Amino acid sequence: MADSSDHNKKAIGIFDSGIGGLTVFKEIRRKLSNEKIVYLGDTARVPYGIRSAQTVLRYSIANADFLLQQNIKLLVIACNTVSAVAVDVLREKYTIPVIDVVGPGARRAVNITKNKKVGIIGTEATIKSSAYQNEIRRMCPDIEIFTQSCPLFVPLAEEGWCSSDDEVVRLVSRRYLERMKDFDIDTLVLGCTHYPLLKDAIKMIMGKNIKLVDSAEETALEVTTLLNRKSLLYSGEAENKSFFFLTDIPDRFIETARLFLGEGLENVKLIDI
Ligand code: DGL
Repeated sequence: MADSSDHNKKAIGIFDSGIGGLTVFKEIRRKLSNEKIVYLGDTARVPYGIRSAQTVLRYSIANADFLLQQNIKLLVIACNTVSAVAVDVLREKYTIPVIDVVGPGARRAVNITKNKKVGIIGTEATIKSSAYQNEIRRMCPDIEIFTQSCPLFVPLAEEGWCSSDDEVVRLVSRRYLERMKDFDIDTLVLGCTHYPLLKDAIKMIMGKNIKLVDSAEETALEVTTLLNRKSLLYSGEAENKSFFFLTDIPDRFIETARLFLGEGLENVKLIDI
């Protein structure tokens, strides 16, 4: 008969529009090295950030349905765009806990801002959804919020053009962020899987005193807390196994994955959903 340890032995399922969510995977694996993790990257349909909410929702349900078939105990939405437009529907649809990246990122921003002026950057879909704005206001109504979508940060990061020494990176960062500087924010939420790779360039424009919120770190903390609270942590022999499902395997994906994870991927399987 199945007991609770069988349940705890199940994997954590993570999905993203592509491989940017490996920033979230990496943090979760660092904190929870015992756990088995299955990761789904919808590399055939990335990017989501420029698509309509209805399309993102449709893709998200297909991704989550696939992961649920992998017998997971927890679903983590690593993609900010999906978190922004689909988390409520996914929470409603499935019985296992669902963790998104917007809630933890917003909470962190509320906790660390001193002057109550917070900036949020993300994809067009994320900013347009107002998900971060609503979540922050729900927790602290008197925080002033300033937003900016930075769509070119995604291809820059995937191209590996992330250094603050790179002329193009500096130019694009300045174009997006110069305006933010006038608002005197002390905290900036990096509301996209790819933006942590551009931290240095963002800091260079915003000044070294700006506090950057990396949703990946916050989400990993939230995953740990939730598994603990629900007694779902796996305490048996370390599984330490990760499996990666991708809907397309483009030629460059190994290099791109290395950018986000710092290492190559093993146990990769191509799937159709
Ligand atoms: N993963 C997406 C996000 O965090 C960025 C890439 C995309 O647009 O799909 O919003």
